[in-house]
Amino acid sequence: MKPIPSDGAPVPAVLVMPRTAPAPRIAVLGAGGFIGSHLVPALLGRGAAVDAVDVNLQRLADVSHERLRRIEARIDAPGLLDELTARADVVFSLTALCNPALYNTRPLEVIDASYTDLVPLVKLCAARGRWLVHLSTCEVYGKVALDSGGRPTEHMHEDETAMFLGPVHKERWSYAAAKQLLERVIWAHGHHAGLPFTLVRPFNVIGPRMDFLPGVDGEGIPRVLASFIHALMTGEDLALVDGGGQRRSFLAVAELVEALCLVLDRPQHCRGEILNLGNPRNDVTIRALGEAIAAAYRAARPAAPPAHFREVTAAAFYGDGYDDSVVRVPSIEKAERLLGWRPVETLPEMLPAIVADYVARYEPLLAAAPRAVRGSGGA
Ligand code: UGA
Repeated sequence: MKPIPSDGAPVPAVLVMPRTAPAPRIAVLGAGGFIGSHLVPALLGRGAAVDAVDVNLQRLADVSHERLRRIEARIDAPGLLDELTARADVVFSLTALCNPALYNTRPLEVIDASYTDLVPLVKLCAARGRWLVHLSTCEVYGKVALDSGGRPTEHMHEDETAMFLGPVHKERWSYAAAKQLLERVIWAHGHHAGLPFTLVRPFNVIGPRMDFLPGVDGEGIPRVLASFIHALMTGEDLALVDGGGQRRSFLAVAELVEALCLVLDRPQHCRGEILNLGNPRNDVTIRALGEAIAAAYRAARPAAPPAHFREVTAAAFYGDGYDDSVVRVPSIEKAERLLGWRPVETLPEMLPAIVADYVARYEPLLAAAPRAVRGSGGA
């Protein structure tokens, strides 16, 4: 089968399910994660019946709906994927260990979660003709954007940019390599074995309920948003890995979910496609992100001590084998064209609600926590 082209035709009006049609059944694997917990209520709001699967569905504790079925299980539980793909019209696959602190410390689990455990899902969806919407990652592009000839470019393009990962001993890239191989497996099933699929590459999505705070509801190093908020709430320094000059483009989770719902509305445009979902206008250095989060925290808690930054080497912070993306800016021309979607939320617009969420959830827990978790308050 030839690739399904994006034909450049104008995007049609939203294809909303007629009220009389049976509700589409959507399986969301990884429903209890950060993105899943925002996606599930949106799908229910659109009239879908949702099978929400995760080892822990705590983030969906407040969501109740007659069309929501909760399944607390690992996706490799015997028979589970078989049952889910037999029932579902669409499968959203979001399970992964997507925290960089794990890529060089628990690489075998990272590779299994992003590749090995998901190959059976791809095969079942292909055999049954289920539409697989798989959330891959911007990490597949690697350290910087390069064109197919290896020349630097500004933006990462789904169908043109080369993938520039580091050497094997730089285990940071274990996750990207596993994700990339699964993308290739999905692509091959789609273009040679009839699998209806869409591959999505989110770029640094942030929002309420992201990650964990160390010592409170998780251990280790969370991603940068939670890491900085934890430092602010405990009076610790914000750690700038290798100086914080590296850049990321941040997208509000609500805008990601909006785009995922538009994918569902436009199967004829999105099947067989890879889509970057990010906001190139929110491209900032990690230091600038830290300053913006600190400003939002200070607005929420004016009596808090001023934020301090501390530069730390990647090896000291993450251990050997860590490596980093230097700059990561998506081209979203394709998503804009196929979905009629354009993210607009700026960091100063999204950060107050994110900080408010962390403060409301964690302040009482931190107040009750031992001093080691609360931090020493030192600069
Ligand atoms: C991660 C995942 O690997 C991606 O798959 C995912 O798409 C992305 O997060 C995401 O949030 O969407 P990365 O951007 O490197 O990629 O993750 P973070 O841990 O948030 O780190 C961002 C940058 O901040 C890195 O350069 C890191 O070294 C730095 N950082 C992190 C700090 O300077 N201080 C910290 O306390 C934590």
